[in-house]
Amino acid sequence: MTSMGTLDAMRVSSAIAYRKHIDEVAVENSRKLTQSQMLSASDIDALAVLEYAAQDILQKYHAAMRQMEVRLETLDQDLKLRKRRNPIHHIESRMKSVPSIFEKLERYGKASTLEDMERYIMDIAGLRVIVSYVEDAYDIAELLQQQDDLTVVKIKDYIAHPKTNGYRSLHLVVKIPVYFLDRKEQIPVEIQIRTIAMDFWASLEHDLKYKAVRKVEGVDADAELLACSKIIEGIEERMQVLAHALEADPSGRP
Ligand code: GTP
Ligand code: MG
Repeated sequence: MTSMGTLDAMRVSSAIAYRKHIDEVAVENSRKLTQSQMLSASDIDALAVLEYAAQDILQKYHAAMRQMEVRLETLDQDLKLRKRRNPIHHIESRMKSVPSIFEKLERYGKASTLEDMERYIMDIAGLRVIVSYVEDAYDIAELLQQQDDLTVVKIKDYIAHPKTNGYRSLHLVVKIPVYFLDRKEQIPVEIQIRTIAMDFWASLEHDLKYKAVRKVEGVDADAELLACSKIIEGIEERMQVLAHALEADPSGRP
């Protein structure tokens, strides 16, 4: 049985524990308060305005990205009739986060303003188009360039000219018109077109690059990645030749 004395002692100790918890919360709250006081009221207002304005702009880019995705899906459907297969395997989309937009502006020596963000950051909206074969990548790029309301502002052909590490892809920055109530704006979208095989290499290389992978004695990781990229390129060529042979029309029609 618990005596009254023991119960009192338990009450006292739980009251002390409760008090201590309250004190810790108070200390933590006052620490947060001190930190936030490093920002003045006008700083906080400025942040709120920036956040609001950035979201407004980002919505525009998001709309551009979705519209571009629909264009690509339409091309895929149309090309299917010609090729009797879907050239696009799948499409991935992503919006650049506000912190990485400002980090990039800083890295490029530009001002951390919304103006510079719109002027210099061409990959706020990004699409990655994964196709089956190399020729599909060029077909898609060519068809985009033929659409007369789209403007291709930049092309980087890392398929014809792979990066020294072995990275291969076809990069385009394409401006697409977005209509608002009272105006029309040309919004850039970065489009990376690559085959399944290129995507396989790039995904693994990206992971290896960003994980702090330890060095293994006797293994030159960079040379190994480059060699893998070349092997993948060779396999792709063979698969493309095979596809041509299998897809050829027996009637001889082109
Ligand atoms: P950044 O966007 O600052 O890199 O400059 P940029 O637009 O001039 O670069 P680039 O067109 O060469 O590459 C843009 C994007 O392509 C990157 O954000 C990656 O998604 C991809 N990329 C480029 N190089 C590599 C690479 O070596 N490995 C992988 N995995 N992806 C790459
Ligand atoms: Mg980029």
